Amino acid sequence: MTSVPSSRHRETFVDDGAVLDLAESQPMKAALLVESLTGNTWKAADLIADKLQQERWTITGMSKVGHPDLSSIQRADLVLVGTWTHGLFVVGQAPFAAGNIANLPTMRGKKAACFLTFALHAGKSIDKLTDAVRQTGADVAGGLELRRDRLDEHTDLFVERLLDVVQPA
Ligand SMILES: Cc1cc2nc3c(=O)[nH]c(=O)nc-3n(C[C@H](O)[C@H](O)[C@H](O)COP(=O)(O)O)c2cc1C
Repeated sequence: MTSVPSSRHRETFVDDGAVLDLAESQPMKAALLVESLTGNTWKAADLIADKLQQERWTITGMSKVGHPDLSSIQRADLVLVGTWTHGLFVVGQAPFAAGNIANLPTMRGKKAACFLTFALHAGKSIDKLTDAVRQTGADVAGGLELRRDRLDEHTDLFVERLLDVVQPA
């Protein structure tokens, strides 16, 4: 795992010492829901899935936000939602398909986290994405921006943050 990247980028993970109440003895199971236009967010999702599998997590499935695989969501302890930043680069940035994400089938009782790819400036998109995922009823642990030209490094950081909040040290 790498340490914190040098560039500043926003996140909504809060490391307050609290750990999500998930079974410790069983392998963790995660489903990924992804929105992608040119492939960066899929690539990020693939990297996250690989890295979690290296931590002995099970990936129950990876599907599109527009066609969510309900069975993989149902079987997962944690749902990871990823999308990309859409805007005018300096103003008007928002997570693409935030409305579709907020309207995903209810995830009440599920844990969730989110990630957002961007090129230069994502504005407050990660806060908006976190809010959208929260609207599904999920208990959202947080989210992280992933710069599209530093996906390997930033997905390392995402997994690190996630493990901090779902696995006791
Ligand atoms: C129409 C459009 C608008 C974009 N607006 C922004 C923006 O405001 N800020 C930014 O940092 N990146 C912006 N981007 C870059 C994308 O967020 C970035 O390339 C992202 O990784 C794309 O994800 P994808 O390959 O999964 O579709 C924009 C891209 C497109 C196509």
